[in-house]
Amino acid sequence: MSGLRVLFATAELTPVAAVGGLAQAATGLVHELRAQGLEVEAVLPDYGGVELRDEERLPPLDVPGWAAPATARRGEHPSFGPVTLVSVPGIERPHPYADERGESWPDNDARFLGFAVAVAALARTSRPDLVHLNDWHTAAAAAAVDPGTPVVLSVHNLAYQGRTGPDWADRLGPRGAAFLRDGGCNPLAGAIALADLVVVVSPTYREEVLRPETGNGLDGLLRERADRLVGIRNGIDTEVWGPAHDPHLPAPFGPDDLAPKASAKAALLERLGLPDGPEPLAVGVTRLVGQKGFDLLLPLVPRLGELPLRVAILGSGEAWLARQLHGAAAAHPGTLAFVEGYDEQLAHLLLGGGDLLLLPSRFEPCGLTQMQAMRYGTLPVVTDVGGLRDTVVDLDDDPERGLGWRAPVADSGALLDTLRRAVLGWGDPELRLAAQRRGMTADWSWREPAAQHVELYRRLVNR
Ligand code: GLC
Repeated sequence: MSGLRVLFATAELTPVAAVGGLAQAATGLVHELRAQGLEVEAVLPDYGGVELRDEERLPPLDVPGWAAPATARRGEHPSFGPVTLVSVPGIERPHPYADERGESWPDNDARFLGFAVAVAALARTSRPDLVHLNDWHTAAAAAAVDPGTPVVLSVHNLAYQGRTGPDWADRLGPRGAAFLRDGGCNPLAGAIALADLVVVVSPTYREEVLRPETGNGLDGLLRERADRLVGIRNGIDTEVWGPAHDPHLPAPFGPDDLAPKASAKAALLERLGLPDGPEPLAVGVTRLVGQKGFDLLLPLVPRLGELPLRVAILGSGEAWLARQLHGAAAAHPGTLAFVEGYDEQLAHLLLGGGDLLLLPSRFEPCGLTQMQAMRYGTLPVVTDVGGLRDTVVDLDDDPERGLGWRAPVADSGALLDTLRRAVLGWGDPELRLAAQRRGMTADWSWREPAAQHVELYRRLVNR
């Protein structure tokens, strides 16, 4: 099985530079591909401040003037492992995409298009069997790699396309024309048009991106390329997310002995300053963006006590949503706890100590927290979209195979009905325990999804 050499480029890798699910998905896939015997060069922008062991500086990369000078260093990151960090003008920043107020850096087009053409230059020297790109930040490499090197593009979220002015398409060389769209340069569209294979992160999301209502303006292009489009569900890192040896929990537990989960809930309630109580606790760990649908919860907060249900949310992102969640938590302190920020330890305690996991997304390419939560016997309450449909069977539809509850549409009314069903189902000890055990013992790892990637890589390389 071994031998394939892959250059894997991404704007995020856990824990080197992590903003959202992209970081976890990219790291999980790279680690598993390496475990399955592939030689993977993981390439990330050099945002600064990252120290590598046994660092080697590579010769300057051969890039067009607007992306010069481009340099790279390769070495061992203490927890990620071998990584190559690429530097281009402007890439070094305290946050990959935005300033401290959450405003995108104004030169993100130059930064990431520059990074991506440097990735292509790197590929000319390291000569992998194929190049695997992720999202729009790496897309320009599709125009700049040597023809003959197969290109795989993973789309983690079609909503982010990197659209910018049309001049950028000219700067990408002859194949840059594929990046011209609706009078501008659309990096994601360009890479979708040029890639040999496009992977979206769940089978249902594959169906959704082909439809005008959910195709983010690229459904036509994707339909043209449907024979090159596959949907592979993400995995999760089951070493990091699992109750058997999670250093952030007060006591380990597992599918055969869930009793110690109560100590995680007690520690969580204490940490959040919530009194103990018999009602279930629903938790959310999320980026605060409209996509995730946590605003749908806001009008329901005054009524949650009747269900009865309490909710605890950890998240960072857009200021309007943080402000409203702070307001609702202040008005209903016994019902809603909101912690703004990104806190690894609290995230583990929430998923470990919660009873229900909340992810009411308007759309969700894959979603990771629902799988992470199920590892801890925390039953997901989600919407019926994308990867959420592919991972959460509704217990009321199928009590034998069910894993959680799915709201048919993303609105507050449907969410309230679904929360009501969840509280009722959770209150049935037999139903609950069986669902918890199914979720805890299912295989959410990267093993199978990575094997599917390897199979597709082989077909491309042997073509
Ligand atoms: C993006 C998507 C999310 C997906 C993740 C990893 O964050 O919004 O659904 O799980 O990428 O692919």
